[in-house]
Parts: sequence; C-alpha cells; structure tokens
Amino acid sequence: MEDVFPYPVARIGLIGGGQLGRMLVKAAKSLGCTCVVLDPVPGSPAGQVAGNQIAGDYSDPAMLRALAESCDVVTFELEDIETETLRELEAEGHKVFPRPELLATIQDKLRQKQFLRQAGIATSDFADMPRPHAEGFSAFGYPLVQKVRRGGYDGRGVVVMQDAAAFATHLPVPGYVERFVEADKELAVLVARNVGGECRTYPTVEMRFRATDNVLDFLVAPASIPAEVARRAEALAMRTVEAMHGVGVFGIEMFLAASGELLVNEVAPRTHNSGHHTIEACVTDQFEQHLRAILGLPLGDTRQLSPATMVNLLGEPGYTGRPVIVGLAAVLAIPGVCVHIYGKATTKPGRKMGHVTVIDESVEAACAKAEQVKALIKVLGDKQS
Ligand SMILES: Nc1ncnc2c1ncn2[C@@H]1O[C@H](COP(=O)(O)OP(=O)(O)O)[C@@H](O)[C@H]1O
Ligand SMILES: [Mg+2]
Repeated sequence: MEDVFPYPVARIGLIGGGQLGRMLVKAAKSLGCTCVVLDPVPGSPAGQVAGNQIAGDYSDPAMLRALAESCDVVTFELEDIETETLRELEAEGHKVFPRPELLATIQDKLRQKQFLRQAGIATSDFADMPRPHAEGFSAFGYPLVQKVRRGGYDGRGVVVMQDAAAFATHLPVPGYVERFVEADKELAVLVARNVGGECRTYPTVEMRFRATDNVLDFLVAPASIPAEVARRAEALAMRTVEAMHGVGVFGIEMFLAASGELLVNEVAPRTHNSGHHTIEACVTDQFEQHLRAILGLPLGDTRQLSPATMVNLLGEPGYTGRPVIVGLAAVLAIPGVCVHIYGKATTKPGRKMGHVTVIDESVEAACAKAEQVKALIKVLGDKQS
C-alpha cells in the first residue's frame, strides 16, 4: 500500500453509538478519519462527537447497507447485532472488522465456549442446557453458573448456583451451564491484531466487581500479580485472538484460579471497559489501536507509562431523568484524576454514565484516590423515583 492518504484518511462506519463508540470517534478524529454512527437514539454519545449519525436500528438491513455504502470500513462497539446483513455486505466487497463470521461465533456464548474448547484454549467445563431442568443441572454438578447464550451483559444473563437448592433462581430460558471457578482474581488482557496479522497485547489488568450486581466497579492496571502470571495471561490472550484470526481490539476476560491456572471466561470482540485507562496511561490507547488494526496500519506501542485505576460512574439508585453530576469540581481538584462523562441524555440506576481514571505513582496510591473519587462524585438525575 502506498503511504499517501488524501483526507479523510478513512471513513469509519460505526454500529452502536454508546460510550465505547464515543471514545472511538475521538480517536478517529485524531488520526484524520471521519465517522458515521448507526444508532436508534438520535444524538447518541458517539453521534454527538461524530456529528454524523444515521438514526436507525442496528439490525435493519437497509440501515446497515446505507452505513456500509457511506464508509470505507464498518466496525461495531456492541456485539448483539444481526450478522446476516453484515455477511452479505462483506460478500459484496465491503470491509467489516471484526469479521461478521467471528462476531456470530462470539455473540453466542455457547458457540464461543465450543470454539475455545476446540482451539485448545483453557476454559471452564460446560454443557448445553437448551431446556433448564433440575436433573440436568444436578447431573452436571454444583457449584455451577447458568448463562444465556445471547444478549447478556454486565452480569445480566448469568446466575451463580452453589447447590441444588439454588435451582429455583435459574433463568427459564435456553442456555448452558458451566463449572463455577473458584477465582483468586478476575483478569483482562486487551489484544490488538491488524489485517496483516500483527498482534500485540496490553499489560494485564485486574477487574474488581461489585458483589451485589457484578458490574465492574474498580479496575487496577497493571494487575497486582507476579510477572510470570501476567506473561502467561498475555500469551493466553494472544493465542485466543490468533486462533480466531481476529482483526481489531479484543478484550479477553479470564479467571486466575486458586490453583494458579488461567481460564478464559469470555471474549469481547471490541474495545473493552477494562481498557479505558489506556487513554491516559498507555502510549497508544485501545480506541486508536482498534482503528490502526482495522485500517491495516501498524499497531501502536502498548506500553503503560503509569500505574492507573478506573472506576465506572453509574447512575445513582433512586434517580432518573436528566443527569445531575455532583462532586465534579471536588474530584477534578485531585491531581491525576481524569473524568469522562459520556453525554447520555438520561440517567437510570446502574447505567454507565461516565468513568474516572486515576493516574499515580503506584497502584496502591491510585486505588486510594479512586476510593476518594467514588465517595465524592455521583450521577444523580432531575427526577427521583
Ligand atoms: N464459571 C464461572 N465461575 C465463577 N464466576 C463466574 C463464572 N462465569 C461468570 N462468573 C462471574 O460472573 C461475571 C459475569 O459473567 P460473564 O460471563 O463475564 O458475563 P457478562 O457478559 O455479563 O460480563 C464474571 O465477571 C464473574 O464474576
Ligand atoms: Mg464479562
């Protein structure tokens, strides 16, 4: 390829207009690209920044076609989208990355597990459970985790059951069961692989979840684990994306079992909540990296320059309506605190409204500040429910 790019460098078609899309659009602008966003809600977080949005459903074939025809390459920031039209568009010569075929495998969590098993990637044992029934669960054995095959996120669609008495809490939908992993830590590794097959990982991070609803509540980067474990995690993540021939950025979630074994939990075929700190803490952030990967450009340096932590800003329980941010000035007064507000028009309890990254000399110092941040900043709403 000749190294000459008339502006715009590329026109990116983005399916989904949420916060991941918003940060991707910002990175696209830095690289001299333009973006068109497809999202049903006019003025979506990504659409605001792109200045160019098709207001339509992600699964509407006509809308997907309009998007592809107005762009050089199509990508997505969410995974629960119909792949049929995307496959057709690809067959007609439109570039779609990650490939629709791979998206179809990953978006169905059972197919994803089958893929991992076949590829020899360590993952917990599992069994198909199209019709949940007590005998089937007992035959598989407790403790187990029941998961829906498609559409779950942030812990919705996942039920942990310690014993047969917990069967009553099962989801009455087709799904599968997997072995409960007694995990010391939950880790994530971001992997970028470009169209030429060049592959790089970011340093392993540690995710800490809120016990009540399993939403990521605290991210620690780099993970507090021995260097040898981090190296194994990064190698496992890279092997996973290479086995998938994935193009783009992928978030590989894994468990560090008490035994020291690493097991892949799930793969996100997109930029990931566990990589927001890369904006301030790494040479190349995950969003720019994703663009480099899908445009066939050289991948950027993934080195982390400073320890960091990240907290999600979730809509406060009891509030809806227009967001009201309390404590913004107080957190901005703390050195090393970087605030990202996503521009969502309305809040609701638990909705991701923004995030805060804290940079400091050590992970411990960053964590202490993140605790302060969490106590100070809240996203309320102008309606109380
Ligand atoms: N096999 C398992 N063993 C133990 N905990 C699990 C297992 N599977 C999922 N979990 C817990 O549930 C959380 C959400 O599950 P996950 O499959 O990642 O779904 P989601 O798509 O909602 O992120 C995980 O981060 C982990 O805390
Ligand atoms: Mg997950």
